[in-house]
Amino acid sequence: MQLTSRPASSDGERKRQIIMAESKLHYEDRYMKSYEAFIASSNKYERQDTWTKTVLLDKIVPHLPNLDQDNELRVLGVGSGSGEIEYPFLTALLKKYPIITNRVVEPAEDQIIKYKALVQSKGHELQGVKFDWRQQTLEQYRDTDGVGTKFHFISAIHSLYHVGDVESSLLYMYDLLEPGGKLLVIIMSDECGWFKLWRSVPDSLKQDVRYFSLASLQSPFNQRIIPYTHSYQNCEVDITQCFDKTSEDGELLLEFILQVTEFKKKATASQYQDVIELLASSECSKKDGSRVIINVEWDAVIVTKKLSDN
Ligand SMILES: C[S@@+](CC[C@H](N)C(=O)[O-])C[C@H]1O[C@@H](n2cnc3c(N)ncnc32)[C@H](O)[C@@H]1O
Repeated sequence: MQLTSRPASSDGERKRQIIMAESKLHYEDRYMKSYEAFIASSNKYERQDTWTKTVLLDKIVPHLPNLDQDNELRVLGVGSGSGEIEYPFLTALLKKYPIITNRVVEPAEDQIIKYKALVQSKGHELQGVKFDWRQQTLEQYRDTDGVGTKFHFISAIHSLYHVGDVESSLLYMYDLLEPGGKLLVIIMSDECGWFKLWRSVPDSLKQDVRYFSLASLQSPFNQRIIPYTHSYQNCEVDITQCFDKTSEDGELLLEFILQVTEFKKKATASQYQDVIELLASSECSKKDGSRVIINVEWDAVIVTKKLSDN
């Protein structure tokens, strides 16, 4: 029996949209679980925290430009995620700048919810910081705000793998800086085991993430003789459970490393085997007693806005 008088094609279209929305939710949920499996197996936050207390405090904070009359430091986070990486930046900056406005450009609603919860839990440590939440991609932000507000400090940590055009995004963020302001971009090093493994994923399985090399990150600044410094840091991820075919967490962790949701289900037996063999090889990982550790390195580039560029 026909329940509505709508033509069959619009029913079909609605069903297709419901299936697509459900599948998007399924993938987002699965992706978050795989990210959590990664966080649980890595010392990323610990390493980043040490880096923040050294490089950020030594190389960035003392060299930020003087503030305007309003005496407020304007900070922009691009793809801030749930804020664990950026919150120590803010506490470090607060030591010198007691009034900060932190604009957060982050497209994922669940990440913003988590970031807000973190801010609430750290309330006393973040006193003096006003948050300005923008649930947008960098491209959407560019369309709505252009270069209306300039910032003293901008960070884009592991988020540029998702933008459409890396070079144009880098130059846009540079344009958003106040003279003398600093842009910090962190990406995964193209020399490390994780990158080599990701490169080995067959193109037919690759999803919407595009890792890129340090050379591509530096090139637009080299061409324009814009000054920057480079440093790198490493972290360890315990991937032992990826080799246990019965481990759900191992499967999720492998998905995050490869950036392919449900890799085991989608890959052929030989594609799966190739990846596991490469993962176990010394090109990608090392043994530490009974544990297997993947080698992960990050490149951090700190760009300084020329004083005469505005
Ligand atoms: C790998 S996570 C990194 C999160 C956080 N910066 C960190 O290092 O823990 C990448 C983040 O970029 C965000 N993102 C994805 N596409 C983006 C875009 N086009 N513009 C800005 N952020 C984006 C994602 O929602 C996600 O929170």
